[in-house]
Amino acid sequence: MSTYSPSSTRYDQMPYNRSGRSGLKLPALSLGLWHNFGDIDDLDVARKIILKAFDHGITHFDLANNYGPPGGSAEINFGKILNHNLKPYRDELIISTKAGYGMWPGPYGEWGSRKYMLASLDQSLKRVEIDYVDIFYSHRFDPETPLEETMTALSDAVKSGKALYAGISNYPAEASQKAFQLLRELGTPCLIHQARYSMLDRWVESELLDLLEAEGVGCIAYSPLAQGLLTDRYLKGIPADSRAAREVFLTKEQVDQVYQKIVRLNQIAQNRNQSLAQMALAWLLKDDRITSVLVGASSVQQLDNNVKSLENTAFSNEELKKIEELL
Ligand SMILES: NC(=O)c1ccc[n+]([C@@H]2O[C@H](COP(=O)([O-])OP(=O)(O)OC[C@H]3O[C@@H](n4cnc5c(N)ncnc54)[C@H](OP(=O)(O)O)[C@@H]3O)[C@@H](O)[C@H]2O)c1
Repeated sequence: MSTYSPSSTRYDQMPYNRSGRSGLKLPALSLGLWHNFGDIDDLDVARKIILKAFDHGITHFDLANNYGPPGGSAEINFGKILNHNLKPYRDELIISTKAGYGMWPGPYGEWGSRKYMLASLDQSLKRVEIDYVDIFYSHRFDPETPLEETMTALSDAVKSGKALYAGISNYPAEASQKAFQLLRELGTPCLIHQARYSMLDRWVESELLDLLEAEGVGCIAYSPLAQGLLTDRYLKGIPADSRAAREVFLTKEQVDQVYQKIVRLNQIAQNRNQSLAQMALAWLLKDDRITSVLVGASSVQQLDNNVKSLENTAFSNEELKKIEELL
């Protein structure tokens, strides 16, 4: 039996933003489980981060079939925490998962075929031990499978009740527009586009955000801290327990390349009485085309620090100008 009971003030501070023209609101900050929730990680720490997130009003937890490592283990671990501690609150939670990257061997274990997408969703539901996810995503655009097939699979996932909403991630603008049209025609409009967006990676500004607004589709920005580069993590070298030290998705060279920039950005953040992470998140949240910012965390302290970004999301013109010059 769980002894956890969520904070009674959990809905007092967090803003909830409508995703496009849908009926669904998402918290300004959502928690992603790509790293730090796999079998290589400490389940106790993972539990503390997730429960603290819910206490802060973070209702949205983002998964994918391949999160871990090993792939699948983040869903299993999230399922353990959900079913042990959060089961009474299932209707207060938005759980998403995705299919698109390599998950099992052979020709049906990745990309966008109906065969892969629907088998993967069934596997995810089993791992998390739930009957439905709130959002099911196509994780990447498949240039070989007809878009109609992938979108029909998403739509059928919704119609079968195994997902409540459909989303796409990492789709280029042109394919996104076609996907939105198809999903609308199928009667299951696209809820949201999950796209990489941070101060250090701004492709969505010129290519995607206006399209999403015009189409009534939300945007959830992932890797908003550029995997930790936009934090104080690397200001004094590379800590042994950091993502860059493990050199899997973030390399030491990447740290070196942006080091001068982050030192200067940190000075601007300090003048705003914010940590660099808080400023980087606030900088994304100032744009109302962004429904939610999807952040990762390896400790409760990092999560708490990130939530404080919500206390100041306004920027003076002078601050914006200085940041723009640096970027
Ligand atoms: N759709 C996609 O293709 C896709 C791709 C990538 C990510 N995502 C989603 O987006 C989520 C977030 O991505 P991400 O983990 O790359 O995001 P991120 O928020 O840019 O980076 C998270 C990492 O930054 C560090 N960090 C976080 N808060 C900090 C703080 N206050 N102070 C110091 N360091 C801090 C931690 O690094 P350490 O672990 O080193 O401590 C943490 O693991 C993922 O979990 C996933 O749900 C989706």
